[in-house]
Amino acid sequence: MPGLIERYRDRLPFAPEDPVVSLQEGSTPLVHAPRISERVGADVWLKLEGANPTGSFKDRGMTCAVSAAVREGAQAVLCASTGNTAASAAAYAARAGLTGAVIVPEGKIAAGKLAQALMHGARVIALRGNFDQALALVRELAQRHPIALVNSVNAFRIEGQKTAAFELLDELGPEHPIDALCIPVGNAGNITAYWKGFSEAGVAPRMLGFQAEGAAPLVRGARVERPETVASAIRIGNPARWEEAMTAMRDSRGGVEAVSDAEILDAYRFLAAHEGVFCEPASAAAVAGLLRYGADGAASVVCVLTGHGLKDPQTALEQSGSVVPCEPDAAAVERAVLGP
Ligand code: F0G
Repeated sequence: MPGLIERYRDRLPFAPEDPVVSLQEGSTPLVHAPRISERVGADVWLKLEGANPTGSFKDRGMTCAVSAAVREGAQAVLCASTGNTAASAAAYAARAGLTGAVIVPEGKIAAGKLAQALMHGARVIALRGNFDQALALVRELAQRHPIALVNSVNAFRIEGQKTAAFELLDELGPEHPIDALCIPVGNAGNITAYWKGFSEAGVAPRMLGFQAEGAAPLVRGARVERPETVASAIRIGNPARWEEAMTAMRDSRGGVEAVSDAEILDAYRFLAAHEGVFCEPASAAAVAGLLRYGADGAASVVCVLTGHGLKDPQTALEQSGSVVPCEPDAAAVERAVLGP
C-alpha cells in the first residue's frame, strides 16, 4: 500500500506536485476480537494503529503536517508531547531533513517513545511541568519563530488522521455499518479527526470517548490541574480540541466516560493474553470503556488501539508474569517448560 497522502489524495489538501514526506503510514490492520465480542455481546473490531511506522496513529497526522511544513519552507518542526507525537515528529522531521524539537513532561513519558525521539535526532526537552504547560509554551514559541507546530492544533494533523475513518469504511464496506467507535481521548485531536472523516463520508457512528479517571476534564466539564494516570499518553488536563470533541460526541449521539487505571490495566492485559494484541495502556482505555459501559445496543463496534504495547515496556513488565529461571540441562528445561 502507498502512504496515506497518495492513497487518499482526492480527499486531502495536497496537489499532485506537492512534496510528500511519507513512511508508508496508514493501511493498518482491522482485526476481529472474538473474546471481547463475546464479553460485550456485539461484534467488536480492533483498529491496530500501533502498526504504523513509529508505532502509533500519530504518523497519519505527521505525514500531512510535515509535508505541509516542507511545502511552506519551514526549517524546523516543534511539538509538545506525552511521547507518541514526539516520536512521530522526530521520525518525519529526520526523513524530511528538518530539525525536530520536542518538549515532553520530565520523567512522564514511556521509555520506547523517548528512545525513538532521541534516535531520530530530535532535540528532546524535558519540561519540569506537565503536557498542558508544554503545549501552551510551544504555541507561544511557534508564534514568534518560523517553526511548524505539529501538535493536533495543526489542521493538517486532523486531515491525516481522518483517513483512519475512511479505511474503516473501505474495509468493512456498506454491508457492515459501524454503530459505534470507542476511542481514548487525551488532547482530543483524534476523536475530532475520526468524526471529520466519518462526516465527510456521510456516516455517523456513535463516538464514544474514554478518558482516564484522573485525567478526565471532558467528563467533569472542567480542567484538571494535575492530571494523573498510568496511561501516560493521555495524562492531559486541558485538551486543545475540547469543543470539537464535545461536538463530535453530541452530534453522533455518543458520549464521554471515565475508566479507572485498574480497568485500563485489566483491559490491557486481557487484550494481550486473550486476543494476542499488545497495545499501550492509553489505547486499552477504549476497550476498558466498552467493557465497563457496554455496547449500548450497538451491533458492530470498532475500538481504536492507538499505540503499540512495545512503546511502554516498563508498564508491561510490571503488569505481567515473571520469567522462569533454568539451569542448562535437559531435565531442568523439561520441568521448566512443562511446569510443576
Ligand atoms: N492514545 C495514544 C497512544 C496517544 O499517544 C494519544 C495522544 C491518545 C491516545 C489520545 O489522542 O490526544 O488525539 O485525544 N498522545 C499525544 C502525544 C497527546 O503527545 O503523543 P488525542
